[in-house]
Amino acid sequence: MSKPDCRPFRNPVVAALDVDTRDEALRLADQLADVIGGLKLGPRLCLRYGQDLVREIAARAPVFMDNKHFDIPSTMEAAVRASFEAGASVVTVHALSGPEALRAMAAVEKELNQKRSFRILAVTILTSWDENSLPPVMKPGRIADQVKALAGHVSQNGLKSLVCSPHELEFLRDQGFFLLTPGIRLAEDAHGDQKRVAGPAEALRDGASALVVGRPIVRAEDPRAATLKFLDACK
Ligand code: C5P
Repeated sequence: MSKPDCRPFRNPVVAALDVDTRDEALRLADQLADVIGGLKLGPRLCLRYGQDLVREIAARAPVFMDNKHFDIPSTMEAAVRASFEAGASVVTVHALSGPEALRAMAAVEKELNQKRSFRILAVTILTSWDENSLPPVMKPGRIADQVKALAGHVSQNGLKSLVCSPHELEFLRDQGFFLLTPGIRLAEDAHGDQKRVAGPAEALRDGASALVVGRPIVRAEDPRAATLKFLDACK
């Protein structure tokens, strides 16, 4: 299999630091630093520890700040710039934030990329939504069709990277997107609350550029060894 371009990550396996304390986050970052492609931090760490922790983690591996911004364009731009200044290499925004915001994101991504490798990923439809939980202002329809429509909207407005589930890869691949995919498990891993999972090699073969793995790595007895297993399973 040809290697996907997973930049700014160092390899396709990104660990989700889904923990609540600075000590746990730094312990994991230290354990994983020399093997992991990147480390994902969400609001549960960012809101508690802010820029200081992001800086410390970014000294160990590329940081993915998954705060899914959805606001007026100027506020989104300010949040993305603040994330970049803290050391983030990848951030997320909502595709639903609208064309003006997406165009502002594309411009800021282009500008910041000249300083160091930086990517803004758009989230289409949250996996917690289904056909029955779409807001009434959205046209009713299959989730896959909503995702396709939003992906087209993202690309028309200049962004090239998406977060998507393993089962969305088949219709998003080959359109020039960088595709980051959660819901990744080895055969022996518990699925937890993930309903649709894929193995690492399968997801990469189906078009994923990088994979987000949470519990199977961060809750493993030996997170570094678990990461090596995932890396091996990418082959
Ligand atoms: O533990 P697990 O591997 O299921 O964690 C996956 C990570 O990816 C979590 O941080 C979760 O919030 C995130 N994620 C997801 N599904 C999405 C978007 C993000 O599982 N659609």
